[in-house]
This record gives sequence, C-alpha cells and structure tokens, in this order.
Amino acid sequence: MTASMKEAPSPDIEDALVRFEAAEKVYGNGFRALAPIDLDMSPGEITVLVGPSGCGKTTLLRMAAGLTEPTSGTVYRATERLSYVFQDPTLLAWRTIRANVELVAKLQKVPREERRKRATDAIAMVGLDGFERSYPRELSGGMKMRASLARSITSEPELLLMDEPFAALDEFNREKMGSELLRLWREKQFGVLFITHSIYEACTLGHQIALMDTGPGHIVEVIDSPSPPSLDPGFQRDEPALRALQQEISIKLGSFRE
Ligand SMILES: Nc1ncnc2c1ncn2[C@@H]1O[C@H](COP(=O)(O)OP(=O)(O)O)[C@@H](O)[C@H]1O
Ligand SMILES: [Mg+2]
Repeated sequence: MTASMKEAPSPDIEDALVRFEAAEKVYGNGFRALAPIDLDMSPGEITVLVGPSGCGKTTLLRMAAGLTEPTSGTVYRATERLSYVFQDPTLLAWRTIRANVELVAKLQKVPREERRKRATDAIAMVGLDGFERSYPRELSGGMKMRASLARSITSEPELLLMDEPFAALDEFNREKMGSELLRLWREKQFGVLFITHSIYEACTLGHQIALMDTGPGHIVEVIDSPSPPSLDPGFQRDEPALRALQQEISIKLGSFRE
C-alpha cells in the first residue's frame, strides 16, 4: 500500500479538486524536499505556487499529478483528466501545428472527427488560425507556447498543471499568454495549478496564491486574491488592489529570506 492510500479522505472531500493532507516528500537520497503540506484546490479555480528555486514547487505539482507519491500524508485528486504545460513547448518538429495539437487527444483515442473539431477550436481560441499547416520551426516562441496551450486543452482537462509555462517568454508575450490562459479558463473552467517565479504573474492569474519557502520546502501562507483574475491583465496593472497584493507578497517573500 502506498503512503497516499493510508488515510481515509476527510468527509467534505467532494469540495476539493486536489487536496494535500500533511503530504510530505523525502527523496530516495534522504533529501527532505517538502515538510507536510496542507492545501486545497477548488474545481475551476486557479492556484498559484510562488517561491524561490528549490522550495519544492515542482515536487508539489508532481504529487498533484500522481507522478510522485508523498512519503507520508495524502494527496487526493478528484479527477484523472489532467493536462500539462511546461516551459518547453515540446512540439514535435516533424509534425504540423494541427498534428501537434491533435496529438494528446489522439493518444487518448478520441475519434478522428471529434479530435479534429477540438483541435480546430483550440487553435482558434489561442489565435493560431492560419498556422495549422505550419511546422514548429516556422513559429515564434510565443506562438509555440500558444500551440502547446491549445494541445493541452484538446483532452478537455479538469486539471491543468503548469510548471513555469511562460518563464522562457519575453515580458510582452508572457503577459499575453497570461490573458490567453484566462480566456481559455473562462471558456472551459478547468482547475489550474500554476507555478511561477513572478509575483506579478501570481497576482494577475491566481484565485489563491500559495507562498512557499525553502528549508525544507513548505507553504508559508495561502492568500486569497482580493479581486478575481481579470481577462485583461494590462488594464489590471494599475489597480490599487493588485498593486497592494504584489507589494504584500514581495515583502512577505523577502522577509522569509532574512
Ligand atoms: N529526484 C530527486 N531526488 C533528490 N532531490 C530532489 C529530486 N528532485 C528534486 N530534488 C530536490 O528537491 C528540492 C525541491 O525541488 P523542486 O521541487 O524541483 O523545487 P522548485 O521547483 O521549487 O525549484 C530541490 O532542492 C531539489 O534539488
Ligand atoms: Mg521547479
């Protein structure tokens, strides 16, 4: 029996999309990557993990995905419909954008017609119409990330796991991808676990923001965003509530370091 199956889930578990209950991670070499973590993700909400390198963000995401088991404690996940988006768009160079976008649905054996329809919709949603027959090498970094995002939604996920997805993009494209994600989220209402180093990104995208720190990795505080994510982050930039939140988080993340 694995550690994750030891304890019965709490009674109100139906409310959660993902629930960490005292989930701890000690790697095989004895390194304690995460102290016991308690965190609830609600269906259809965006949870952001923000914190310094090495604080266990990726480990936590991998536990949410079931890619790694907690050493003790429980990780409960209400759905198997997961999708991933990583910093590297991982498009297959020899396949067209359409074929790349269809790939996940194809691997899931979604019938051809349905798959094509989903891919067409997803490509349109991320603004790549006209590029269906292009190859990845013909696209800019931002466009490749759009294709990666389109591919991730063709499996109709209930949980999207995003590990620093836009970190390799320039600031302009990064902000555009943030609003792209929010537009998709508004249409599809999937839950998102989003990892970032950027406080601005955390504040503009998250319904709840978990601040993490090292030594061993842990969640210091979970902040509920005072305003729901705006579909136009550029407009939101000057909102006092957002500025205050950014300042609060940078002070808190800074003060952990002292
Ligand atoms: N497979 C592993 N074995 C041993 N240590 C690991 C392994 N994976 C990650 N770590 C260590 O665990 C800590 C947390 O890693 P990670 O979850 O990748 O943090 P983050 O994503 O916040 O940078 C780091 O110190 C990392 O070196
Ligand atoms: Mg990481």
